[in-house]
Amino acid sequence: MLALSFALPFRLSTAVSRPPRAGQKFLSGRVVLRYSPARMPETHNAILLAAFGSRLPGAEASLDAIRARACGLYPGYRVETALTSGTVRRHKGAHSRQGQSPEDILKGLAREGVTRLAVQSLHVIPGDEFKSLERVVAGLKGGQGFERIELGRPLLGNAADVRLVAQTLLTVLPPRQPGEAVLLMGHGTRGRANAVYQDLADELRALDPLVLIGALEAEPGLAAKVDELRTLGAAKVHLMPLLFARGVHATRDMAGEGKNSWRAGLTRAGFTCEAHVKGAGEHPALAAVWLDHLREAVERLEANPENRPVA
Ligand code: CO
Repeated sequence: MLALSFALPFRLSTAVSRPPRAGQKFLSGRVVLRYSPARMPETHNAILLAAFGSRLPGAEASLDAIRARACGLYPGYRVETALTSGTVRRHKGAHSRQGQSPEDILKGLAREGVTRLAVQSLHVIPGDEFKSLERVVAGLKGGQGFERIELGRPLLGNAADVRLVAQTLLTVLPPRQPGEAVLLMGHGTRGRANAVYQDLADELRALDPLVLIGALEAEPGLAAKVDELRTLGAAKVHLMPLLFARGVHATRDMAGEGKNSWRAGLTRAGFTCEAHVKGAGEHPALAAVWLDHLREAVERLEANPENRPVA
């Protein structure tokens, strides 16, 4: 009797399931060549998606969506996620799988034999959170067993990104009547990276003067935007976060019923206000910009025989 065994990560199946899953090929109408992850050889490649994180249930939608797309795009890579916010991690509990820091995940990956690593920032601007991620990655170079590490820049990582994101935002705005304005809420930072919001505001204004962006924790804040909206003569304002996830800032500080929310401030200022809380990472067109930065990082990883400094 001939015993046939093969090491390829496929198995034959006669059970046809529709629609076909990724990696599943039909040999005929009834026979399926099915991808079997259990037989997959151990991979030395990994992708780490690093987001600020949120304590709100439902806020994982952004990270889950990008993770699913990264898994589909890079079948030869393990895809892991980490949260850069210490506050969010403490809230989730230090040992929960979803609440791990980039350092913890990276140490684990090194122990498990990963040698090539692409870290993708899921931050919006190159502010403090991105800078500390950058320091973690720089600290690992040449150490901890990794041969190569590349870091993908955040959504608004350079001037070309700002232009592209302005154009992309116009494709994901809520439906509105002529004369209605959209006010995007960015987070804001005390550091120099805050200037990126003004650059984005300029790009947006050139494309559509009724699309504005302000910052929650920096200038230009809500008061400056109320003045602009009055000058524009908009009676109705759509609020939308330019924040990765629908976390506390989007749901409470932007759209909340409390008197300090942007919604309440705009209503007091006499505008009709409609809030749309979907996180930026939940819009496939915006997620594609982050994924494009990941693609560049993976390309550098695969092209690069030496461990170059992070671009
Ligand atoms: Co904040």
